[in-house]
Amino acid sequence: MPLTPIADLSQHGFLQLYRKDDDAIRAELSRGLLDAHATTSPKFLYDALGSKLFEAICELPEYYPTRTEGAIFAAHMDGIAASAGHGSVLIDLGAGNCAKAARLFPALRPRHYVPVDISVEFLRTAVDGLRRRFPEIRMTGLGMDFSHALDLPSGVPDEGRLFFYPGSSIGNFGPGEARALLADVHTACGSDGGLLIGVDLLKDARLLSAAYDDALGVTASFNLNLLRHLNHLLEADFDVRDWRHRAIFNPDLGRIEMHLEARRHVTVTWQGGRRIFREGERIHTESSYKYTRQAFVQLLEDAGFSDVSCWTDEREWFLVCHARAG
Ligand code: AVI
Repeated sequence: MPLTPIADLSQHGFLQLYRKDDDAIRAELSRGLLDAHATTSPKFLYDALGSKLFEAICELPEYYPTRTEGAIFAAHMDGIAASAGHGSVLIDLGAGNCAKAARLFPALRPRHYVPVDISVEFLRTAVDGLRRRFPEIRMTGLGMDFSHALDLPSGVPDEGRLFFYPGSSIGNFGPGEARALLADVHTACGSDGGLLIGVDLLKDARLLSAAYDDALGVTASFNLNLLRHLNHLLEADFDVRDWRHRAIFNPDLGRIEMHLEARRHVTVTWQGGRRIFREGERIHTESSYKYTRQAFVQLLEDAGFSDVSCWTDEREWFLVCHARAG
């Protein structure tokens, strides 16, 4: 069932389908923090400062995914456009500042651009700027959380949908959740739609660890900033100085894990909860799964996609795939 817009700003080409439910957020966070292995969802890394820190991460020499994916698009744009087609309804999942999709506009020439992001204000600013640069492309910004359900409103045309999910964001879901999300995308594609997706590939553990524990400490700040966000959301009393960033490659699960580790014995209280963390105890804040090409194509096929075309860089560090729904 399509969602009813909370704010119908259609005259500005923007629909907000998501309203923060503070009680549900607090309950989810509290549950995770009280878990035997404390955990928080990676979505809480992205408050206003977190989104800026992530933009800074993408500029770091150690963080190769953004650069490498950009180079694959630049080198193979003609082939990608030939496979994905022109004049689509380009639906950009987790669009952020919309910069990646905007770079594809000249080659893909979408007839309608639909950026989707949970960070409503961040997206609204980005779409306003983009509309001035590309007045010929119709744009509808959607403020919504698509990680649980991908219910697009009726204003998004059914025909010729091309979903765009770059940056290996799919890697922040566990394999089961990733398959479910991709199956949702497959359903939303209709019979003639497709998916253009970027995913990070498995590689040397030292390269992976450096990408998530850079020399400048930007990723450490990104991770530690979560505690400030939790203080705000939960009225918690985390002291950032009590914690350190840890990035660990887990070879058995093929993923980088980000954790926050207590530097000393600390007691944290928040609205509705309290926990003592022993020195060395951790909060698991993010997993970033890395795939082989074969495993990722299999995941796309398991989700219902077919006719998968892939492009990679010389070192085979990153993979871009186009897959058809029908
Ligand atoms: C958004 N996501 C794909 C990033 C990643 O690589 O998993 C988030 C990130 N975490 C630390 N550095 C970047």
